[in-house]
Amino acid sequence: MTNRYIDLVNQTFDFPQEGFEVKGGYLYFHDLPLKTLIDTYGTPFKLSYLPKITAQIEKARNWFKTAMAANDYQGEYHYCYCTKSSHFRYVMDEVLKNKVHIETSSAMDIDLVDRLFEQGKINKTTIIINNGFKPILYTKKISALINAGFKNVMPVLDNVEELEQYEQFTNGSTCKIGIRVATEEEPNFEFYTSRLGIPRAKVLDFYQEKIANSPKFQLKMLHFFVDKGIKDNMYYWNEFKKVLKLYCQLKKVCPSLKAINIGGGLPIKNSLGFEYDYPYMINEIVSQIKTACQEEQIEEPDIFTEFGKFTVGESGAVIFSVLGQKLQNDAELWYMIDNSIMNTLPDTWGIQERFLLLPINRWNNEYRRVNIGGLTCDNSDYYNAEAHINQLYLPKYNNNDPEPQYIGFFHTGAYQEALCGYGGIQHCLIPMPKHVLVDKDANGNLKHWLNFKEQKLENVLDLLGY
Ligand SMILES: Cc1ncc(COP(=O)(O)O)c(C=O)c1O
Repeated sequence: MTNRYIDLVNQTFDFPQEGFEVKGGYLYFHDLPLKTLIDTYGTPFKLSYLPKITAQIEKARNWFKTAMAANDYQGEYHYCYCTKSSHFRYVMDEVLKNKVHIETSSAMDIDLVDRLFEQGKINKTTIIINNGFKPILYTKKISALINAGFKNVMPVLDNVEELEQYEQFTNGSTCKIGIRVATEEEPNFEFYTSRLGIPRAKVLDFYQEKIANSPKFQLKMLHFFVDKGIKDNMYYWNEFKKVLKLYCQLKKVCPSLKAINIGGGLPIKNSLGFEYDYPYMINEIVSQIKTACQEEQIEEPDIFTEFGKFTVGESGAVIFSVLGQKLQNDAELWYMIDNSIMNTLPDTWGIQERFLLLPINRWNNEYRRVNIGGLTCDNSDYYNAEAHINQLYLPKYNNNDPEPQYIGFFHTGAYQEALCGYGGIQHCLIPMPKHVLVDKDANGNLKHWLNFKEQKLENVLDLLGY
């Protein structure tokens, strides 16, 4: 038989590949026999494989280290974790083991910073970068951190009015700040300029008028973030070069300026066919900054990143059973799963995000084209296209086979929990799946435990007021 699922994968991709291999017809994720977890906990469940978080941070640091050495780059590299991609304590604990810095997005994030400080996981020298359009509660909480002696808190101004609030709320003699430059959106988007940040054309004047002669404010960082991610295309490099030019202009009039922050947007593997040359892209970023600084004869800035999805995305997975098959016409076969795609992976319908999807069992069976259907009544609760191909193939099976078909969506660790309102009311009251954490013990052996039991209907009814 050559039209087995495993043959399809072997013919289409390099397989096995990092994190994925098949033994005896069953899929392993980072040496973890997923069937064992299924037998232990039952589907559906979410899974977080914590060692991947540290591995990602180490990878990025090494790429920057190599690129900086190759370019004889004089500035430093700082890895900040964008908390909003996953706020969970188990994530923050793993992230902070690596002595990274933090980027916050809201007033509520500052309470989280307070907790981390109380727990001794960060200290008053941790760099804490504050982004976002800030309601007064947020600027007050940022100012409270500054007033409490956190030396490296750096609000990044989203608009010119924000500055006055730090004037009012901070009581020390100095306050470090950054400026976010609003990038232009991709040509096919509804708006020309990002709503976040200060328009590029206004930045220099704003600096000269409000910051240059201020005894209090020191502009330390220029920040930008291209929402579509760090991609090797004209649009990205154009935006990058515009900000770089502005950095050089600013640096000539602002000696305190020391850092450029390129935000997040480093992509992750969303299909077995994913190709992205990370070392090349990072080298290109470092060398372009170096060249621009040499041409303008200015000091090279420290480079900051705020990788969210890259840090935590590849640590997550969601595992389902197929409950039954429905052939709705000659061509449309549905694999109906035991939870909802919409609820568990909201980015799939919100922004048409693709995740790496693989069967857990029956790799030696023939494959066929399928659509995956969720349990809500919503016609958007489906998944039927992969990132590399506008179709979806999974192993064939018979309804009376004793073992159900299991499937897994992988690299789902960023944003999905917050967007689906972890532990809250879910569409059609489908209970939120349980959540399993996996880590390595001191001897490097895998251990796993339940972080969240399947949502109880009593709790849901309580929330609903019954
Ligand atoms: C300012 C800022 N930094 C970093 C990030 C993280 O982006 P990503 O998760 O794509 O790395 C975001 C995401 O929206 C952001 O708005």
